[in-house]
Amino acid sequence: MAKHFQEGSGKIVLGALAPHPPHLVYAENPPQNEPRAECGWETLRWGYEALRNNLLKLDYDVVVVLSPHWRTYVGTHVLGVERLKNISVDPVFPHLFRYHYDMTVDVGLSKAIVQEASADGLVMKLMENPDFRVDYGTIVSCHLTHPNWDKPIVALSSHAASAYFSHDVMQEEMIRLGKSTRRAIEKSGRRAVLLASNSLSHRHFTKEPPLPEDMSHEHIYHHGQYLWDMKMIQLMKEGRTDEVMAIMPDFTEQAVSETDSGALTWMLTAMGQPRIPAKVHAYGTVIGTGNAIVEWNLEEAQKRPQDQSLKGAQP
Ligand SMILES: [Fe+2]
Repeated sequence: MAKHFQEGSGKIVLGALAPHPPHLVYAENPPQNEPRAECGWETLRWGYEALRNNLLKLDYDVVVVLSPHWRTYVGTHVLGVERLKNISVDPVFPHLFRYHYDMTVDVGLSKAIVQEASADGLVMKLMENPDFRVDYGTIVSCHLTHPNWDKPIVALSSHAASAYFSHDVMQEEMIRLGKSTRRAIEKSGRRAVLLASNSLSHRHFTKEPPLPEDMSHEHIYHHGQYLWDMKMIQLMKEGRTDEVMAIMPDFTEQAVSETDSGALTWMLTAMGQPRIPAKVHAYGTVIGTGNAIVEWNLEEAQKRPQDQSLKGAQP
């Protein structure tokens, strides 16, 4: 039976930095993915396992994800078809990711986000093409957090403000999109989990070893980008979210980070820039890029007296 949502009582219960290297799905060997692997990238996969265990303890209705690989050039698009079923192939790693997906979309919440953001002057579009092929970023982040696909999702595209304008323009627009997303969730009555589907530093190798999961070849591409990643992660661990936001444009530029998609800015803003220590489940590299699995559990933090500042947090 469809759940009845009480209007105005919605909230974001958890947000996670949930990067999407297709290698992680490849290494897990789920039935949906055609290629088979021997092993690989265990630190990150075990980090996702820890995040999944925490999600199992949580009561929520929907997963809202913003992916860098659904790139739209005019505004932000939002999935608007109830059920999407197809195969998704990573254009760069077709030998690792040919994934058969079957997902349900919370179109009611999608429409609410489009409406809120449009009212704030952002260019928005509900994606209503039933044959649309969902990008691998959305799928990998959702699979690794919900391999059973037992929750509906809402997926947002990443528009190209970083590429066409600047990282500062991206930041400004994603802050507005984050605030709109929060308002839409609150009004909708849903309890939502948010996913920012992006890596941190993103310089990467251009040649692959004969066996992709041969971990003797895996390491950070460049020490400078590793230092940037550690700086961002330390701030997250200490709950210094406002500083994470302040240095985001510089970090994005210097570490060639996938935060250029706006995903992390969007999510932190929607969560009200929570000043709570984030749980870092894992950090590891994939073809040299820096990936962190990080959790901000707002539901849990509200119960802790030392995190009372959260109650005053506003987007
Ligand atoms: Fe990516």
